[in-house]
Amino acid sequence: MQTLTITQADDWHLHLRNGNMLQNVIAHSAKQFQRAMIMPNLQPPITSVELALEYHAQILQSLPSNSSFEPLMSLYLTAETPITEVAKVAACNATQAFKLYPAGATTNSAAGVKNLTSIYPLLAAMQQQQVPLLIHGEVTDPKTDIFDRERLFIEQDLIPIVAEFPELKIVLEHITTTEAVQFVESMPDNIGATITPQHLHFNRNALFVGGIQPHNYCLPILKRESHRQSLIKAAISGNPKFFLGTDSAPHLQTNKENACGCAGCYSAPVAIELYAEIFSQEHALDKLEGFASWYGADFYNLPRNKTSMTLQQQTWTIPESYPVSSQGNLIPLKAGASLNWKLIEPVK
Ligand code: DOR
Ligand code: ZN
Repeated sequence: MQTLTITQADDWHLHLRNGNMLQNVIAHSAKQFQRAMIMPNLQPPITSVELALEYHAQILQSLPSNSSFEPLMSLYLTAETPITEVAKVAACNATQAFKLYPAGATTNSAAGVKNLTSIYPLLAAMQQQQVPLLIHGEVTDPKTDIFDRERLFIEQDLIPIVAEFPELKIVLEHITTTEAVQFVESMPDNIGATITPQHLHFNRNALFVGGIQPHNYCLPILKRESHRQSLIKAAISGNPKFFLGTDSAPHLQTNKENACGCAGCYSAPVAIELYAEIFSQEHALDKLEGFASWYGADFYNLPRNKTSMTLQQQTWTIPESYPVSSQGNLIPLKAGASLNWKLIEPVK
């Protein structure tokens, strides 16, 4: 049976939530990944190093006892973030970056940034102190067509930011369009991007196959097939600007299958297998290790992992659901679908 052993992978964009949800999802990511960049869009948001360290401790306490999983924290950037917080992030090993949510762009983004120029002094400090800026890149004007929001953010907001702060480290998170791929490719090494499994597997038709499909709804929304093809090309290119970030975002089944369903795909339990499926289909499994295990660490100037993980070629079926104790279920991305690569446990 064919196997593939690669350096242990990291997830450079992950939502773990807190409380009971955290307790129920953390083991899934810890089984698959050595490290993850933890998103700060809790309620209330993680806006300071102090809050990030409290959240970091909660995550560590929730881990299975034998796990060496390392959460790396991002802070929620607001117009009120004190400039002194930038130096604190730079000085603390557990905190790595700031996350920019344009206000209203997505789940728990109400406290985000309304006017991007208001945070320019913070971006100047981040550039100077080499603290990366992670961006949810969508314009928020509700009149803008939802399928155009990422492209317009690049044109209207990101190009001016890059012009003003040419040395700022930026990760354009969960890219979804040909324009985002081209933008990142055209930039110097300080600009990278993460790519999710859902944007590699699905185009926007997947939102409406035989009826509305709430578990395929995330933000930025799935785009047309030509964009998916651009993302696949970028992911398998071996270009170190593109690396793995699942954007796994757990919402209870009842909050997804709802008249106003939440945005977010839960991919954590099956993430590496979902990526392997795409790389295998493209005859590019030799490029998986760079994308999943090397380029993100390199971008953040962190050491590559020393441990390895092994996938085996075997057909298996993604579970229909995962229980969340006393609350309901999570429906994973591609629930019930069959995959051809499986992570062999234990991973370490
Ligand atoms: O689909 C999404 N869900 N996109 C985001 O940007 C946030 C995330 C969440 O937190 O649920
Ligand atoms: Zn996210």
